[in-house]
Amino acid sequence: MAKLTAQQLHELGLNPKALPRHVAIIMDGNGRWARKNGALRSFGHRAGVDRLREIIRFSSDSGIEALTLYAFSTENWKRPDSELAVLFNLLVEYFTKEIDELDENNVRIRAIGEMAAFPERVRTAVGNAESRTQHNGGLKLNIALNYGARMEIVRAARRVSANAIESGKLPTQQDFENELYTHDLPEPDLLIRTSGEMRLSNFLLYQAAYAELYFIEVLWPDFTQTEYVKAIAEYQRRNRRFGGLE
Ligand code: FPP
Repeated sequence: MAKLTAQQLHELGLNPKALPRHVAIIMDGNGRWARKNGALRSFGHRAGVDRLREIIRFSSDSGIEALTLYAFSTENWKRPDSELAVLFNLLVEYFTKEIDELDENNVRIRAIGEMAAFPERVRTAVGNAESRTQHNGGLKLNIALNYGARMEIVRAARRVSANAIESGKLPTQQDFENELYTHDLPEPDLLIRTSGEMRLSNFLLYQAAYAELYFIEVLWPDFTQTEYVKAIAEYQRRNRRFGGLE
C-alpha cells in the first residue's frame, strides 16, 4: 500500500478534498459470479476476498477514514454447513495472512456483530487482528460479522433502557447512538451494493439515514478499483442537502 497524493487522486478523476469519510459496502454476487464462470461457490468467495483486498488498499491509500464491509449477516446462517465452513475458513485465512500488511499500513480492524456465535477459530483470528491493530490511526476497517441492523438497534435500545432505569433520566438521541457498534465513526456517506440487488438487507439501517446509495450490476468479484473510483466519482457529483435547501 502507498498513500496517494492529491495529484494522483485528481488524475483518477476524484476530488481529494471531498472524499466520503465513511464508505459502507454490501459485497454481493460471489455465488452468481462462480456460476457465470462455471466454478464452485467457494471459488466465488475466494475471488471476493481478492477484490476485498484491492478495495481495502484503495480506501487506505486514498485517505478514506472508515470502511465498513458486510461479510456475514444474521441471515447467512441459513446457508448449508459446507458453505459456512468455506466462509469461516476464508475469514480465518484472511485475518491471519493479511494482518501484517494491514498493521504496517496503520489499519485499525474491528468486527461489528455478535461474534459469540462463531466457532472459536474465527473468534480467535478476528480477536487477534482487533487487539493487534487497536491503537492504529489509519483506515478504520469494520467487518460486519453476524451483523443485523435490527438486532443492533434493539441491543442499543435495551442498553439505553437499562441506563435510563438506573439513572431515572430518559435517553437522548446521542445516548442511543453511543450504544451502536459504530458509535465512534462518522455516518456512512456512501453505501455501495454490488450485483444489481437494490435493497439494504438489514445493513446499517439507522446509520445510513443520509448515505448516498450506489447500486451497481457488477458482481462483487468484478468490483475492481476502477469500479470503486467510479462509485466515489458518482458520489462526488451528488448534491447532498440533508433535508435543507441548496
Ligand atoms: C455475497 O455473495 C457474499 C457473501 C455472503 C459473503 C461475503 C464474504 C466475502 C467476500 C469473503 C469473506 C470475508 C472476509 C472479510 C475475509 P453471495 O454468496 O450472496 O452471492 P450470490 O447472491 O450471487 O449467491
